Amino acid sequence: MNTSTIPHYRLLARTATFSRLPAALRPHPTPFTVRMSLSETAPSLAVVGVTGAVGQEFLSVLSDRSFPYRSIKLLASKRSAGKRITFEDQSYVVEELTPESFRGVDIALFSAGGSISKEFGPVAVECGSVVVDNSSAFRMDENVPLVIPEVNPEAMAGVKLGKGGLIANPNCSTIICLMAATPLHRRAKMTKLLKGLAFSDLAKVLRMVVSTYQAASGAGAAAMEELEQQTREVLEGKQPTCKIFSQQYAFNLFSHNAPVLSNGYNEEEMKLVKETRKIWNDMNVKVTATCIRVPVMRAHAESINLQFETPLDEDMARDILRSAPGVVVIDDRNANRFPTPLEVSNKDDVAVGRIRRDVSQEENYGLDIFVCGDQIRKGAALNAVQIAEMLL
Ligand SMILES: NC(=O)c1ccc[n+]([C@@H]2O[C@H](COP(=O)([O-])OP(=O)(O)OC[C@H]3O[C@@H](n4cnc5c(N)ncnc54)[C@H](OP(=O)(O)O)[C@@H]3O)[C@@H](O)[C@H]2O)c1
Repeated sequence: MNTSTIPHYRLLARTATFSRLPAALRPHPTPFTVRMSLSETAPSLAVVGVTGAVGQEFLSVLSDRSFPYRSIKLLASKRSAGKRITFEDQSYVVEELTPESFRGVDIALFSAGGSISKEFGPVAVECGSVVVDNSSAFRMDENVPLVIPEVNPEAMAGVKLGKGGLIANPNCSTIICLMAATPLHRRAKMTKLLKGLAFSDLAKVLRMVVSTYQAASGAGAAAMEELEQQTREVLEGKQPTCKIFSQQYAFNLFSHNAPVLSNGYNEEEMKLVKETRKIWNDMNVKVTATCIRVPVMRAHAESINLQFETPLDEDMARDILRSAPGVVVIDDRNANRFPTPLEVSNKDDVAVGRIRRDVSQEENYGLDIFVCGDQIRKGAALNAVQIAEMLL
């Protein structure tokens, strides 16, 4: 068993060698607190894919939020087995994921890709674990809740600790989009009520057009490494190395690398369409999306155009967003200051700006917004840990 210092940058959660981690993945400094999270009566945890971009963020979020745990198992592939990770001042050996890994595990946080989730998710459930899965493996399964805690916590009401179960984390672009769009979608209904009209579920977002600007981090730690390497190579006049993506990424942008389907949309775009309908429990909402990879290291941006059933003026929209949980408004027209991926990197909140009436639509029936969110954090690890918190 290799217990020496970990040579690979992806294994550096809170170890002494952070400097080799891409800057965007380095844990941000957190204020010193007395940790109360290790407790005999708390659930036992497993993190599957702990050496990856999301896995590392799981550790960071669990620690930042003082998530209570009695024990924690760090699981990855055979390649990483035996390496050491320090978490909350304790040194842990990374174990190879096997069907036996889940014995005695109450909550298993999965982020090792869809095929691993499909193979080991049901095994974990059989062992009595509640699986919170970051992959797309179970998202559209009608028996599996697809949850954003600020949006549809009720969907996971049937899942209880100790009984086993699966909960899916939505796609990162969907989470970021719906964190901003949902308060407007729901408040549109309330506006109608306040005006004394009868309640109608027609007072909502009817159509949503999303254009994404997605960061390297969304494709995992190796993609971030590739962007860094390509940037260096291009600046040095060398041919960029293309291993993760099939074309030059540095100083370029391209259509999302997800497979393109027979309808011309890629899988990432169709996730936004289908997951929105499931999360909002609204099969009629019209969603279209264009997903683009941009050479940003960490955090996604999205331009979102909304069409409402009833008018919603931009001042009211701004007020609604200011009071929405997990949302911060950055919308300073005079200073031309709006959300950026850099500003939201390593932050929990999704930032919204460019809040303006869509002049192509009548009266206040349309609104444009620009949203940025750290998709490794709120788009993946934080959302999953919030789900786990609701199990406690
Ligand atoms: N990155 C994001 O922003 C994001 C957002 C939402 C959802 N997700 C989803 O989260 C999952 C992981 O994404 P990521 O970005 O963290 O990828 P990543 O950086 O490439 O990490 C992949 C992780 O999976 C582990 N793994 C691979 N094969 C394995 C095996 N056979 N058995 C056990 N572990 C194995 C890897 O372990 P080794 O190091 O040992 O290979 C590594 O820990 C994917 O399903 C992705 O779609 C990612």
